[in-house]
Amino acid sequence: MFNLDTRTIFFRFVFFLITMSALRSVDSRHNSRQSSCFAVDPTNTLTDRLNIALNSSTNGYVLSLCPNTEYPVEAPIMFAFPDQEISTEGYPTDDSRATILINGALANDGSGQTTAVDGTCVASAPGSCDGVKLRNVQINGARNGGSPVTGGGNVEMGGSNANQLVEYVRSYNPRGWTCMHIDEGALSCNNITVQNNDVGPCGTDNFQEWADGLSISCQNAIVENPTDGGIVLFGAPGTQVYNNTIWVVNQTLLGGINMVDYEPWSGNYTNTVVYNNTILGGFSNEVELANETDGTNSNDVIIKLGIAIGPRTWFGDEYGNNVSLSGTVHDNMFSGAFSYAIGMSSAKNFTVENNILLENATFIGLRGPNCSSDDTTPNPAAFVIDQSTVSASTTQSNFTSIQGW
Ligand SMILES: *[C@@H]1O[C@H](CO)[C@@H](O)[C@H](O)[C@H]1NC(C)=O
Ligand SMILES: *[C@@H]1O[C@H](CO)[C@@H](O)[C@H](O)[C@H]1NC(C)=O
Ligand SMILES: *[C@@H]1O[C@H](CO)[C@@H](O)[C@H](O)[C@H]1NC(C)=O
Ligand SMILES: *[C@@H]1O[C@H](CO)[C@@H](O)[C@H](O)[C@H]1NC(C)=O
Ligand SMILES: *[C@@H]1O[C@H](CO)[C@@H](O)[C@H](O)[C@H]1NC(C)=O
Ligand SMILES: *[C@@H]1O[C@H](CO)[C@@H](O)[C@H](O)[C@H]1NC(C)=O
Ligand SMILES: *[C@@H]1O[C@H](CO)[C@@H](O)[C@H](O)[C@H]1NC(C)=O
Ligand SMILES: *[C@@H]1O[C@H](CO)[C@@H](O)[C@H](O)[C@H]1NC(C)=O
Ligand SMILES: *[C@@H]1O[C@H](CO)[C@@H](O)[C@H](O)[C@H]1NC(C)=O
Ligand SMILES: *[C@@H]1O[C@H](CO)[C@@H](O)[C@H](O)[C@H]1NC(C)=O
Ligand SMILES: *[C@@H]1O[C@H](CO)[C@@H](O)[C@H](O)[C@H]1NC(C)=O
Ligand SMILES: *[C@@H]1O[C@H](CO)[C@@H](O)[C@H](O)[C@H]1NC(C)=O
Repeated sequence: MFNLDTRTIFFRFVFFLITMSALRSVDSRHNSRQSSCFAVDPTNTLTDRLNIALNSSTNGYVLSLCPNTEYPVEAPIMFAFPDQEISTEGYPTDDSRATILINGALANDGSGQTTAVDGTCVASAPGSCDGVKLRNVQINGARNGGSPVTGGGNVEMGGSNANQLVEYVRSYNPRGWTCMHIDEGALSCNNITVQNNDVGPCGTDNFQEWADGLSISCQNAIVENPTDGGIVLFGAPGTQVYNNTIWVVNQTLLGGINMVDYEPWSGNYTNTVVYNNTILGGFSNEVELANETDGTNSNDVIIKLGIAIGPRTWFGDEYGNNVSLSGTVHDNMFSGAFSYAIGMSSAKNFTVENNILLENATFIGLRGPNCSSDDTTPNPAAFVIDQSTVSASTTQSNFTSIQGW
């Protein structure tokens, strides 16, 4: 069958040569490009060199990191002028993205570096970090199972600035309280887009060693991501949260999307819309062993509250009669194990409609291990509401009424 005449062999040989020279030229282009990305060595001056690159340049400077390279930093890398960008050369979206590794020493009292990149320009005039972009990098917070450290998140963006962009960032393993914090500044942060980031795992599910996935307190944010870890909306009026997928792997998640915080926006969720997100609780798809009596396995994790609305669902009576105000939650989807898909208590002027259960949604886990006998927790159910503290709201018809939440 392989009746190759000399002409075919000749063409194959020419093709081979062309292919090889094309590969060589790709290779040399690659090399010359690599020389223009930011050199990691010498690492003992790396943190200063990165900061000087940003603070001695001006608007629009692009700090281009090398693919497949780990940048260990001893202090946060600070954006310094409007429209600056930190990204990996060639904008890869896979594991070849540069990794910024938090490498600052931890003191004996547990304090130390928690932030890798800071785009808040907190020490400069408002607007100094307008339009900055963090794109296509990985951030490893290097907590590695240790105790939480006091300080900011792996990534601190927002502040008194507008029009920032965070995309294709993988953020995980934070020492601090969150994988990514979009800060409100002097309640003047506006219009940040947070999209296509993969976030998590963040924190552990050990008592008070939790961390958020995304913590958003900037108004008019757009949030669209996959996350292994929750999204917390601190009021953040005007924020659109859609097309996110939130799941658990092997750590229980207390809240998938939280609309519970009274601070810093006095519970104001006006024009905040949470829609078309998919929230996946625990899945038990391992074969049961003969010696297992109660189904215990290393993956016995759930999401307690898929979407939590109102401070009382989270904090009990800590915020008195304060409420979450004027948000909209529609067309979200739930599958897997939860205690509640949506829990609603202490809310006003909310619209909650058309949220649906996919296959295999179950509601379990009435009492946590630390509940005292006089703590009241509602029976697990899909959609639960305490009508006595919810007013002026439109809710889908199949909420289960509960009391005393
Ligand atoms: C720029 O960054 C370097 C290194 O962190 C720092 O020593 C210097 O003070 C900064 N300069 C300005 C103008 O912020
Ligand atoms: C919001 O910020 C984005 C950049 O992330 C920008 O393209 C857009 O024009 C801004 N929108 C407004 C209304 O300023
Ligand atoms: C219960 O609470 C105590 C502190 O009050 C804490 O030390 C312990 O780890 C908690 N247990 C669980 C399972 O959360
Ligand atoms: C959500 O994602 C889908 C693709 O999965 C896309 O078609 C749709 O436009 C997205 N929604 C918005 C509002 O961008
Ligand atoms: C949890 O899952 C992660 C990622 O899949 C894995 O690296 C880790 O070892 C798991 N931890 C446990 C305790 O199973
Ligand atoms: C809530 O925020 C919106 C948009 O920023 C604002 O117009 C409104 O006055 C605020 N409402 C309250 C009660 O603070
Ligand atoms: C109720 O919420 C909607 C949507 O956020 C908002 O437009 C409206 O102004 C709010 N009404 C009151 C009385 O706060
Ligand atoms: C909702 O999400 C689904 C699946 O991700 C997507 O196909 C659809 O376009 C989205 N709808 C909107 C309105 O964004
Ligand atoms: C149950 O049996 C499996 C397989 O024989 C074994 O690995 C596991 O340790 C046993 N678990 C308990 C709780 O005895
Ligand atoms: C609302 O919360 C604030 C801040 O925690 C608190 O000072 C105030 O007393 C609360 N208001 C009510 C009515 O409980
Ligand atoms: C509630 O109603 C929605 C449709 O409005 C439906 O998709 C959902 O599955 C219902 N949930 C329950 C628990 O009946
Ligand atoms: C629901 O569970 C069954 C049995 O484990 C599985 O075959 C099916 O694929 C699951 N459906 C979804 C949408 O996960």
